[in-house]
Amino acid sequence: MIGFENVRKEYPGGALAVEDFSLEVASHESVVLVGTSGSGKTTLLRMINRMVDPTSGVVHIDGDDVSRLDPVVLRRSIGYVMQASGLLPHRTVEDNIITVPVLRGTSRAQARVRALELMETVGLDVSLATRYPAQLSGGQQQRVGVARGLAADPNILLMDEPFGAVDPIVRGELQLELQRLQRELRKTIVFVTHDIDEAFLIGDRVVILRPGGIVAQVGTPQEILAAPADDFVRTFVGADRGARSLHVERTDGRDVVVDADGRAAGVLEAGAASP
Ligand SMILES: Nc1ncnc2c1ncn2[C@@H]1O[C@H](COP(=O)(O)OP(=O)(O)OP(=O)(O)O)[C@@H](O)[C@H]1O
Ligand SMILES: [Mg+2]
Repeated sequence: MIGFENVRKEYPGGALAVEDFSLEVASHESVVLVGTSGSGKTTLLRMINRMVDPTSGVVHIDGDDVSRLDPVVLRRSIGYVMQASGLLPHRTVEDNIITVPVLRGTSRAQARVRALELMETVGLDVSLATRYPAQLSGGQQQRVGVARGLAADPNILLMDEPFGAVDPIVRGELQLELQRLQRELRKTIVFVTHDIDEAFLIGDRVVILRPGGIVAQVGTPQEILAAPADDFVRTFVGADRGARSLHVERTDGRDVVVDADGRAAGVLEAGAASP
């Protein structure tokens, strides 16, 4: 479990990135932080692996205050998939994937076997193992980024707009792959995006942020769609836009969440729809 308790982040120079944020993420849950640019998403994500230390407040993992943990050890135990893949350009795909396991003492030979397994897991042809990142398509690079995040078999996977840099079709494929992976692997995932549709697709729960890391609403996609907390959320989720990929329709006295093709994506539990 990951817990944020009243965390605040003021960067030197005065930017107040996060005012006062609290949240618990259960083990094996996927939570998506969604908000406009500058709303503090990356800052919050990086507090988990201590790439950012909060100005005040506490982040804990399974009850341990992360500020008492060695940041290097912590970072190597948590998968981190950066925006635009963050691959090392002068290393092959395989070497990119095995960086962290090798740092943690796994033999190169063993790590290589694992790298090829992971490439299959994320849907990459193993023949690409010896290529360099620049010799891959954007979507392939993103998959390498995900494989690298999974390489140390972390319980926690942090993903910062991991599919931001690819076209909508590849992005859709990657989103579906991640859903499939999550069904198999059941990691605890904290995922950042500014795309509400992506958030609803990937999150067991979604946290909608205002600037300053202020929580506008937390809930399952169905809960948020059925009962947006206020006008900010309503606008953000496009409830007033009509055409969106997920929306709520009332059928036979039940509220059903329907996707863009009219397929039912879920039924709201009793009470969830009443504000
Ligand atoms: N290292 C830094 N030094 C000073 N200010 C920073 C630093 N990093 C972020 N900020 C500021 O903190 C605020 C939140 O930034 P953050 O990167 O967390 O936002 P974000 O929600 O991830 O945005 P984006 O969607 O653009 O990635 C912004 O106003 C940003 O300018
Ligand atoms: Mg960011």
